[in-house]
Amino acid sequence: MLKPADVTHLMSGRKIARIAFQPEEIERRVQELGREIGAAYPTGELLVLGLLKGSFVFVADLVREVPRPLQVDFLVASSYGAEKVSSGNVRLVYDPETRLEGKHILLVEDIIDSGRTLNRLLEVLAERKPKSVEICALLDKGLADGVLRKKPKFLGFKAPNEFLVGYGLDHAEDFRHLPFVASLAE
Ligand code: IMP
Ligand code: MG
Repeated sequence: MLKPADVTHLMSGRKIARIAFQPEEIERRVQELGREIGAAYPTGELLVLGLLKGSFVFVADLVREVPRPLQVDFLVASSYGAEKVSSGNVRLVYDPETRLEGKHILLVEDIIDSGRTLNRLLEVLAERKPKSVEICALLDKGLADGVLRKKPKFLGFKAPNEFLVGYGLDHAEDFRHLPFVASLAE
């Protein structure tokens, strides 16, 4: 079990309040999710669409646990900048060449907070005539439950309503490389 005192060398002076999800817990859960996803798509073409940048670690681990053929692509949706709260303006950058038509799309998000990012994306993706669109999120703060157009079909963990970093999640681009998820001290 890692403790905050064990990881100060990774933190450039910032302190973490506590480690919310340990590397081993994340690894186990990602393995289970991979199997769930494999079982949920018995047929058809599956495109795993990761939301950059936050999902890059999760996607890399997850796709290696899905026991079926699939493709991987990424899109960028940014709304936070260096702030800790969502601005609500979701800016979308994606490759319009990516063929979505007729494919099962699995949208992979690091963490669901207000749900604004996903809602905007679901809207845009529906126009591209995929066979299906589902959400896989590593973490969900539970704040978007009434708001989301579609609940995540695959979820790693319910998250506490705290600002979390690590395993892809950043604060002002720091801490993405942490092999655990931690709550940042004020
Ligand atoms: P939403 O649109 O408010 O649901 O925000 C989703 C995006 O905000 C996620 O993809 C994350 O990149 C970022 N985000 C939300 N909460 C956190 C957090 O606690 N730590 C780091 N990033 C977060
Ligand atoms: Mg982010």
